[in-house]
Amino acid sequence: MPAKALIVYGIMGDLAKKKIIPALYQLASRGVLTVPVIGVDRPSVATDATREPLENISEWRKGERDEAAYREFLSKITVIFGDMAGSAVYSEIDRHLDSDAFAVHYLAVPPKLFSVVADGLASSGLSRRSRLVVEKPFGHDQASARELNRCLLRHFPEDRLRRVDHYLGKESVQDILTFRFANSLLEPLWNRSHIASVQITMAESFGVEGRGSFYDSVGTIRDVLQNHLLQVLAYLTMEPPAESSAEALRAEKPRVLRSVRALSSADVVLGQYSGYQSVPGVDPKSRTETYAAVRLWIDNWRWSDVPFTVRAGKRLASTTTEIAVEFHQPPRMLFLSPDAGRPAANVIRFRLQPNPSILFDLQAKAPGRAVATSPVRVSVDLTEALGPTEHPYERILSDAVSGDPRTFARQDTVEEAWRIVDPILNSPIIPDEYRPNSWGPVAAESLTRSGRWLPISTEAVGG
Ligand code: BG6
Repeated sequence: MPAKALIVYGIMGDLAKKKIIPALYQLASRGVLTVPVIGVDRPSVATDATREPLENISEWRKGERDEAAYREFLSKITVIFGDMAGSAVYSEIDRHLDSDAFAVHYLAVPPKLFSVVADGLASSGLSRRSRLVVEKPFGHDQASARELNRCLLRHFPEDRLRRVDHYLGKESVQDILTFRFANSLLEPLWNRSHIASVQITMAESFGVEGRGSFYDSVGTIRDVLQNHLLQVLAYLTMEPPAESSAEALRAEKPRVLRSVRALSSADVVLGQYSGYQSVPGVDPKSRTETYAAVRLWIDNWRWSDVPFTVRAGKRLASTTTEIAVEFHQPPRMLFLSPDAGRPAANVIRFRLQPNPSILFDLQAKAPGRAVATSPVRVSVDLTEALGPTEHPYERILSDAVSGDPRTFARQDTVEEAWRIVDPILNSPIIPDEYRPNSWGPVAAESLTRSGRWLPISTEAVGG
């Protein structure tokens, strides 16, 4: 059911400042967001009762927005400061809602407040006419995710509950499904008979400055691997949905994740960049990983014995998220002279960001008399070809208001993802130190099929 109002908890917080308010402004300026927005935050962040604090929190650079329109947009947001564990704040929210209006409550607050707000909405009676949206992280392991779910389900049935994973709002991530299922060229090849290995890289060149204390309690596996990267893996490997509904799509993801073997320490390499321990908020003796590489096995008919290596890290040599699907080499090297060397396998790459693209690494005849092949790349920059896409938070927020569950994670998917990583959480593995601006610990190479990571597309052509 479409909501008639949007209430954002944590309106003065970092996430609101960086993602939510800019996305809401974009939606409002395109005429997509027509419902009133109410912002809620703790009284301690209210420096005064004016609109000034809200205006100051925008991180947008001047020139990227129409100042007058932006101010007008902000002036329409009602901001309520109050204790989310008390009842007054919910009565105040209720006063601003049309009677009986169905509303969406978006929790951009620390996880310890998720069930506090859910309980507050229930005690005030608001939960009966509401949808609840919770930001990540959804639990810190499988048991806590189940417990959190149990608390939320007391007041919100699954069909009125949404778990945010902003990767699901990315068009480049949704495009994995389009490429797989709208091109009859690809799908017949999408299995163990043709694919030798898959590598997924989420590299970030920046560190954790400004969020050291949060990051130190979380680490790479919980921060991006359990959620964003396992969602990407599910899109890449799931079976075609039975029909086109959001629920049919959401049903396929836990099915494939159920076949993913839980990780053991032999399939994991952790790293920590030099200098991490001196970041403000980080324990000077911290063993939290800022890099993780894992090898996953999907024990089902389609993917048996195909290694999926997934790596993610901070302070790496590039900021790029990319999937490389490596095909088997041809059975015989018909076109090669004895001294020409073996041609590299074909690789299909989905570059999710920056510049979302699809790239095919193929082999062509090398010019000249010698019988030899040369790698060539066929690539399409999707923004150049098709135009710009909206920011993932625009999609997440408009789906939160409209009620479309497609871009949200379902509980069974979240639980399966925790099951996969649970055995290596809090493991005694000591992270290898790596140099900032490198590709992380060298030991991670040993997890890949050929003993080395394929260069990502911005590094080099071919293999
Ligand atoms: C967030 C993580 O969920 O995703 C961050 O907490 C990470 O550590 C971010 O940097 C990456 O998102 P994106 O959209 O920039 O790839």
